[in-house]
Amino acid sequence: MQKGAIGIFDSGYGGLTILRDIIKAMPEYDYIYLGDNARTPYGTRSFDTVYRFTLQAVRRLFAMGSPLVILACNTASAKALRTIQQNDLPGLSPAGRVLGVIRPTVEAVGSVTRSWEIGVMGTVGTIQSQSYDMEIKKLYPQAKVYGQPCPMFVPIVENGEYDSPGADYFVNKYVNSLLSQSAAIDTVILGCTHYPLLINKIKQALPAGIAVVAQGELVAASLGEYLKRHPEIEGRCLRSGKRTFYTTDSPEKFEASGRIFMGEAITAEKIVLE
Ligand code: DGL
Repeated sequence: MQKGAIGIFDSGYGGLTILRDIIKAMPEYDYIYLGDNARTPYGTRSFDTVYRFTLQAVRRLFAMGSPLVILACNTASAKALRTIQQNDLPGLSPAGRVLGVIRPTVEAVGSVTRSWEIGVMGTVGTIQSQSYDMEIKKLYPQAKVYGQPCPMFVPIVENGEYDSPGADYFVNKYVNSLLSQSAAIDTVILGCTHYPLLINKIKQALPAGIAVVAQGELVAASLGEYLKRHPEIEGRCLRSGKRTFYTTDSPEKFEASGRIFMGEAITAEKIVLE
């Protein structure tokens, strides 16, 4: 069987925070990153649109030879993953696999919370889909989940404003709104792959004692476990440490911003998704 790079998809730059941690844990594999920057943000779009865009990206990554695609985007994981896995995969790539980022995040929360009152910050789409509520309650029926949509966070991060006073304003606004839902929340999930760029501000805005759960390391650990459990997929992953970056918008812009997310220089190529 043909070998290929592990595909990582996000609506924009956010998935780079996941890729960075995956590479830290498993530098030996080849990775192809695809950011749909031309159509970001996904968080305010309908189910149908997020599904259609995500399917186009997954199809492209399989066409590039990926045996395994990670949706490093909570919005796509919430709105498109299940349909793609159940309806599209058999026709697209019967031996291929598509994984999301919500399940590995939820699995880790059980060892963090004590009050079982959990806050989730995410895009409007992720929060409205109630995917976190459902996944958390499946694993921990005793949990209470409070969702906080943060529609300004992705535009702030995509436009490089995550260190600005404007970012402080919106971090405080969303954190206060989340905490007003319950005084017993002791764990906050950053349910969007863009939010790690705001993690210091979010931690500062939260009272001491509330744990913040970011996804990168959790997804990396879960991918490592998955590859161990699935030698038939692992055996099809190239291992020459190569990284390739594609964007649907300007490669120059992607290289400049991507460098900040990845902590190292990158080169990107433009592709069109349809
Ligand atoms: N990084 C995506 C996520 O995790 C951002 C979604 C968007 O484009 O709004 O949800």
